[in-house]
Amino acid sequence: MPYLQVPKGTRDIMGKEIVLWRKVEEVVYETAKNFGYEEIRTPIFESTELFTRGVGEGTDIVQKEMYTFTDKGGRSLTLRPEGTAPVMRAYLEHGFAVQQPRVKWFYLGPMFRYERPQAGRMRQFHQFGFEAIGFDSPACDAEIILIAWRIYERLGLHKLSLEMNSLGCPSCKFRYIETLQQFLQREIHSLCDTCKVRLEKNPLRVLDCKNEGCQTIFQSPSFPRLQDFLCEECSKHQETLLATLRFLDIPFSINPRLVRGLDYYTRTAFEIKTGELGAQDAVGGGGRYDNLSQALGGPKVAGVGFAAGIERMVLLLNKMGQGLHALETLVYLAPLDGEGELHLLVLGRRCEELGIPFYMDFADKTLKYHLKKAQKMKVRFVVLVGKAELQNSLFLLKDMFSGEQWTLSQEELLKKLQEEKNSA
Ligand code: HAM
Repeated sequence: MPYLQVPKGTRDIMGKEIVLWRKVEEVVYETAKNFGYEEIRTPIFESTELFTRGVGEGTDIVQKEMYTFTDKGGRSLTLRPEGTAPVMRAYLEHGFAVQQPRVKWFYLGPMFRYERPQAGRMRQFHQFGFEAIGFDSPACDAEIILIAWRIYERLGLHKLSLEMNSLGCPSCKFRYIETLQQFLQREIHSLCDTCKVRLEKNPLRVLDCKNEGCQTIFQSPSFPRLQDFLCEECSKHQETLLATLRFLDIPFSINPRLVRGLDYYTRTAFEIKTGELGAQDAVGGGGRYDNLSQALGGPKVAGVGFAAGIERMVLLLNKMGQGLHALETLVYLAPLDGEGELHLLVLGRRCEELGIPFYMDFADKTLKYHLKKAQKMKVRFVVLVGKAELQNSLFLLKDMFSGEQWTLSQEELLKKLQEEKNSA
């Protein structure tokens, strides 16, 4: 009988790939600390209503992509498809709006969307995200973008492009949508079937349709442009943000048709894209959501944030040849008999106390086996203990890269390994 397999659109993350995941996570934690963002961990499932109200009834996420189920108590629950609505729920639930209205939080974890799986698009995927709640200054939008930019930079992910747009406040959006709908009604015969439905349910989403017929409509010189509908306050916000980005040396382009797939955005919307991953080109995205709190029954609270997909970042790291480094083990302890095994485990304990990463194999006691395995692991040093070494309380240290070897006492050996570790 064949073995059971993971559900479609999910995968096991293991082996050498884990090194890259850890690297991304470490950079996220480090950058969060440097910018003063605190971690928040919300539940994997929430009440379905949080997403219908927060993300928006008419979005693809709510319409087609949620993993929703009824629990034994008859409650409708949903595996979280994103992290912003849960973070705002936590903010409101714990009374931050009243007691400490300005918070900076980050999170990291699995999200779930019932999408058609392909490279870089999973049904269970992982995001890290940053949210600054209670700040309405455009400088805070710039800080969020700077954090995203720094994380990509620190990981060596260059060649990314930042696309910016402003969706305005609800009244700008309302005026624009009215005009857009009137315009598109006149062109309805050229719209694709999906956009005909979107025109009624979520007209802004028409703007990022890739269909050729729809694209031709967008090229028309009389096609209404969102930026022409921005009120003075929204225009000012956008101008200040773009000026700040220039000041921070963060290159960007304006994409007037960038609308994003979640309804909560107001004013700033942005996406960070790569040309290396085919159709799944967004490695991160975000924006301002000054009405999300109200949509969830809270007071008016400003907010801005972004989230990035870790799977896509790991794919990129691999593609750029940054990936799949060997384990970070510095030394392989190779016992040649049972007594050697005991001595090496004692040595292993000392290594661990001193922070020297070691690996010890208990499967076989032949020299050939150990050397082959150490080579496969690309470990720099191997420590061997045979009968002669045991009698004199000595260890044989072999440098697998240069071929050199030394016979050393335990203290000499640890000193050398520590020096090597520090110079690595
Ligand atoms: P989003 O654009 O839906 O935004 O997702 C952010 C990132 O998650 C995407 O750019 C992509 O890298 C990754 N992603 C999304 N769906 C998948 C998938 N099926 N498989 C793999 N990766 C995926 C949000 O989720 C907002 N909550 C971002 C935000 C935070 N806005 C304000 N604050």
